Amino acid sequence: MKIALLGYGTVGTGVKDIVKTMNGKIEIVSILVKNKDKYKDDEYFSIITNNFEKVLNSKPDIIVEVMGGIEPALTYTKKAMKENIHVVTANKQLVSQNGPEIIKLAKEKDLAYKFEASVGGAIPIVKSLTDAAKFDRISKIRGILNGTSNYILTKVLEDEIDYSEAIKSAQQLGFAEMDPSSDVDGHDAARKLAILSTIAYGRYVNVNDIDTRSIRDITLEQIKKLSDKGFKIKQLAESYIENDKVFAYVGPAIIDKNDKIHSIDGELNYAEFDALNSSVIGISGKGAGKLPTGSAVIKDILDIINNDINLAEQFLNEEISVHNIDPETKYVKL
Ligand SMILES: NC(=O)c1ccc[n+]([C@@H]2O[C@H](COP(=O)([O-])OP(=O)(O)OC[C@H]3O[C@@H](n4cnc5c(N)ncnc54)[C@H](OP(=O)(O)O)[C@@H]3O)[C@@H](O)[C@H]2O)c1
Repeated sequence: MKIALLGYGTVGTGVKDIVKTMNGKIEIVSILVKNKDKYKDDEYFSIITNNFEKVLNSKPDIIVEVMGGIEPALTYTKKAMKENIHVVTANKQLVSQNGPEIIKLAKEKDLAYKFEASVGGAIPIVKSLTDAAKFDRISKIRGILNGTSNYILTKVLEDEIDYSEAIKSAQQLGFAEMDPSSDVDGHDAARKLAILSTIAYGRYVNVNDIDTRSIRDITLEQIKKLSDKGFKIKQLAESYIENDKVFAYVGPAIIDKNDKIHSIDGELNYAEFDALNSSVIGISGKGAGKLPTGSAVIKDILDIINNDINLAEQFLNEEISVHNIDPETKYVKL
């Protein structure tokens, strides 16, 4: 199977590293980057390009879109599909915002559009939820879907430091971007929650309708006071469906010590869903990083090799209205 990588950063190089261990089962035929000069000494320099047409000319069976952002990722995804190329992505922003039009095109062309890596890194939550939703009724999703925020809140409590110092530590370790706003203000987790909610409830959940609250203003004193009483503050992502309405929230929440989420610390992610027949199913693991995210991409590629090109057709169904959950009554009384 021939693949091309769009993006050769954290996730792209992770995919490459795993491919190299697979004894030629997968061949990388081209790699798209923005700045080719950065890669002069790279072992794959001869197939690295900044020209998308060259990627198409290399005739991949699958394009792995790990460049991030909406454009040009959207245009390249659509162009690839028009050339009958399957697409695997880790781009939660693109899946949550443009999933409907991309999946519509994939369906018309009988192609795969797979995005396990876009939610929870190595955690196989997209697949588990997709399988469950085929026969079970999912009523609720909860989780820690952003490792950066979870790391910061854990660090504040463990090291008794302020939010700003914890951010610096996260940046030094590569867990946080220079601008961490999409993580700490909840937008990253909201994108993942929208993707999972769409699969779970069978209709398109628009990320722009999800209420997000920041963890920026939580103080060390508040965290310590709650910890003394057996509670932790976490950035929780939660949605549930009731009477054909979805309720959703991403933001700080006080978590009781008997709750599984209480033990999810550091950069770990956790996602659980309530299903009518199977009850609560939860999975935790590394939600980001080169190899954990790369491994999720590889699993999607292997599915395509095995002819599993099932699409998340829930994205094509009518949008369902999303309502806020009042955080003051349900999640936080600081
Ligand atoms: N990092 C994680 O742990 C993680 C986990 C889950 C999902 N994701 C998602 O995976 C995607 C990639 O993340 P990442 O952390 O790997 O990003 P990254 O390290 O910043 O790498 C991005 C890559 O894309 C290339 N690129 C960006 N814009 C481009 C453009 N306009 N044309 C051509 N190439 C372009 C960059 O080229 P240059 O090298 O030349 O700059 C770089 O190689 C994102 O959607 C992210 O949300 C990441």
